[in-house]
Amino acid sequence: MSDETMTLFSPRLAARFDALILKYPLRRSALVPMLLYAQDEVGYLSDAVISEVAERIGITELEVRNVATYYSMLRFKPAGKYNVQVCTNISCMLRGAYEVYERFQEELGIAHKGITADGLFSLEEVECIGACCWAPAIQVNYEFHDELTPEHVPGILAGYRSKAGVPSDGSLSLGWKAGVPSDGSLSLGWKAQAEGNAPHA
Ligand code: FES
Repeated sequence: MSDETMTLFSPRLAARFDALILKYPLRRSALVPMLLYAQDEVGYLSDAVISEVAERIGITELEVRNVATYYSMLRFKPAGKYNVQVCTNISCMLRGAYEVYERFQEELGIAHKGITADGLFSLEEVECIGACCWAPAIQVNYEFHDELTPEHVPGILAGYRSKAGVPSDGSLSLGWKAGVPSDGSLSLGWKAQAEGNAPHA
């Protein structure tokens, strides 16, 4: 994009996109990494994100959606601040993944693709996350937890609540409340954290 003031991305990400597109003989080859970076910063692939990515590459929004909907790691609505992905693929399944997954559902009170009322956690059952040797494994944002049993689940969740400043009684801190707009959109603080967590940042 020639006019940076028109972008919905941070100046840093906009510059990264400008450079990324030039690395490939075909601009559209940059599409998947761009979607991942955009999701890390914005939290999900909103209509506005899809529109700008399409414009930057020079393809239609439909072409962007045709690719994006193929990949389960790309999402079209906000996830929780901590997105818990529980692998139930074969290695993990054989070592008790479903018991771990059920415990997460019980503790969080949500099911697959659910999000807690405070926006702190979302939960997904996913395919192999590449940690089969340490099954059963989960991924929370970009952090792995492995060799799990259901008994590990409360402690893992408590750790993330503590990180977010949520008291152990589960009540929300002022800071965390302030970061969750009533319309469900993501706060700047969350966006910044997401960017900091990005694997390629
Ligand atoms: S099967 Fe679960 S990490 Fe590979």
